[in-house]
Amino acid sequence: MSAIIAIKALSKTYASGHPALKQVDLEIQPGEIFALLGPNGAGKTTLISIVCGIVNPGGGQVLVAGHDIVRDYRASRGQIGLVPQELVNDVFETVWATVKFSRGLFGKAPNAAYLEQLLKELSLWDKRDAKIIELSGGMKRRVMIAKALAHEPNILFLDEPTAGVDVELRRDMWAMVRRLRERGVTIILTTHYIEEAEEMADRIGVIRKGELILVEDKDVLMRRLGRKELILHLKEPLTSLPASLADFKLELIESGHGLRYGFDSQHDDTGIPRLLAAISAAGLELRDLKSKESSLEEIFVNLLKEGV
Ligand SMILES: Nc1ncnc2c1ncn2[C@@H]1O[C@H](COP(=O)(O)OP(=O)(O)O)[C@@H](O)[C@H]1O
Ligand SMILES: [Mg+2]
Repeated sequence: MSAIIAIKALSKTYASGHPALKQVDLEIQPGEIFALLGPNGAGKTTLISIVCGIVNPGGGQVLVAGHDIVRDYRASRGQIGLVPQELVNDVFETVWATVKFSRGLFGKAPNAAYLEQLLKELSLWDKRDAKIIELSGGMKRRVMIAKALAHEPNILFLDEPTAGVDVELRRDMWAMVRRLRERGVTIILTTHYIEEAEEMADRIGVIRKGELILVEDKDVLMRRLGRKELILHLKEPLTSLPASLADFKLELIESGHGLRYGFDSQHDDTGIPRLLAAISAAGLELRDLKSKESSLEEIFVNLLKEGV
């Protein structure tokens, strides 16, 4: 299958001299849900904004359904719906007028039945005659989604769709993404919540400091990321690991006062019971132990260490 979005050697340096994207290569397949994961400032919004024609690319090329985003802007943009990170609405318009206008912008014939269905799916139908200024923050965000979908795009970009939204809207958003996928819409979302990528995506790209450092099927990535750590504090410090513990992946930390044990939290056999038995058999006494999940930041650091 040929890619619906093909990004080749895309780079961008803002006027400030800040390189926001460095030689990004990425292909998105039709119908997939792709999550672009990365910390603040990594370049997620810049990447999306370039594909959507809001920010000029520096170097490289982007094709959307075969259309060059610069030379063939209208054809390429017409394929895309964008829900931007920031709320942008004409606050004095009604919900209905806003979505109708958005559809018209793309030269699509009016289709009241489609817009009605769209507003109903987003729980906005009862608010269709309300002015946007009268709506709550969550409702305004729903309007942004309705606007993005008003022209029946084949591709939907959601830039940090659930940052700061309530649980109900987050759930509705996820349900909507699944429905759109069933209709064959390709979805690219950005997030810095790993849970969100885990919940939604078929594939995940990790971006850091403008570089796409990894693109992987979600299942494969989650197995790699599902690592936890157990930190064991010892009553008496050790100068070296006892030979009987050599088979465990242990690291001596805190000048011998602690042991770090990494394990796969998704694996049924974490090895912890065996480890504790071996520690006890070696005559070591524990002061305390705690386990912690690798944070996204640590995961990025580890990914970089691995030189992916
Ligand atoms: N219009 C701009 N002018 C100058 N620098 C910008 C502009 N927009 C973003 N940047 C910088 O580019 C980098 C990437 O930003 P952005 O794409 O918004 O990242 P993300 O969406 O991943 O948080 C950041 O360092 C940001 O400060
Ligand atoms: Mg952003």
